[in-house]
Amino acid sequence: MHLETNNQLALPVGVTLDRYIMQKQSAFPFATGELSQLLRDIALAGKIINREINRAGLIDISGVYGANNVQGEAQQKLDVIANIRFIRALKNGGQACAIISEEEEDIIYTGNDNAKYVVAMDPLDGSSNIDVNVSIGTIFSIYRRVTPIGTKAKIEDFLQGGDKQVAAGYIIYGSSTMLVYTTGHGVSGFTYEPSLGEFFLSHPGIESPTVGNMYSCNEGNLLHYPTPVKEYVEEARRKNYTARYIGSMVADLHRNMIKGGIYLYPPLPKAPDGKLRMLYECYPLAFIIEQAGGKASDGKRRIMDIPASFIHQRSPLYIGSSSMVDELLEKFDTSTAEVLDTAKDVSSLA
Ligand code: AHG
Ligand code: MN
Ligand code: MN
Repeated sequence: MHLETNNQLALPVGVTLDRYIMQKQSAFPFATGELSQLLRDIALAGKIINREINRAGLIDISGVYGANNVQGEAQQKLDVIANIRFIRALKNGGQACAIISEEEEDIIYTGNDNAKYVVAMDPLDGSSNIDVNVSIGTIFSIYRRVTPIGTKAKIEDFLQGGDKQVAAGYIIYGSSTMLVYTTGHGVSGFTYEPSLGEFFLSHPGIESPTVGNMYSCNEGNLLHYPTPVKEYVEEARRKNYTARYIGSMVADLHRNMIKGGIYLYPPLPKAPDGKLRMLYECYPLAFIIEQAGGKASDGKRRIMDIPASFIHQRSPLYIGSSSMVDELLEKFDTSTAEVLDTAKDVSSLA
């Protein structure tokens, strides 16, 4: 009994993200440490953004934040601030030669042409929740450039396709702040300890349950959903599934990945290609969910197999526990078969 208490006291405080990244790197004899450094730079950006988010409500009260800021950033929305912070951290870190961001039309050059990597990011996901104290996130996706080192990065560095990601992750600013990432060897989650300023390994080897009972979609759009999705949601209701929709995909995905569930964002008349962006929303989250044993599809194709053609490309997205995604895909298959059958019937009448 005594021994147990003593042992617990003797336990190390935990594995920090930095230490974890270094340990993983040492498993690869030829690793140069650049990707490790890039991941640490992203974690640093996450800490900075976390600080800004936590101060958000204080801007009008105390004026502390932004008062001395020559760039007038206090007047800007948090997603713009997050964008600026992220870009600055990556420029200073030196490991990314170029960035694409939801907040910028074109490629952002960091000036580090000798760097090996490019980063696609959604600096703040869940914009509608920023001002109302609801969980929001940051998403990132990393590729090794295909253009020669020492030259300016090009668009093809970003359009390699989901399977070419070397790492992807998200930071969720919720009841606690977490960083979750994969380099293609499973998914690890780290919780931020603000008083120490460190992320600690809290969720090693995250595995998504194959099935769950939560579905996440904007049901206000249900009438406009494609038939298979409408049927899936109606069935979920009949089965008494639990509806959970935060409106920040990172938060919805994080919960579903841990507890079991599916997130659905289908095409809509107002967004015929879907709303979510392939490079910095769909691909990275698809990489993560697959590494956790789940699935991600656009209804027909595995997300990671869909080619990327332009920076801000959109896609429908169905993502989560593998059996739930499979069940939805069966509905797509049947309804495609029905459409084909009907077409056959009609043509046989002609
Ligand atoms: P962002 O804030 O980066 O624009 O992304 C918001 C996305 C996603 O996170 C969320 O699930 C979805 O848009 C919400 O869209 P609706 O308001 O149409 O439901
Ligand atoms: Mn987003
Ligand atoms: Mn965003």
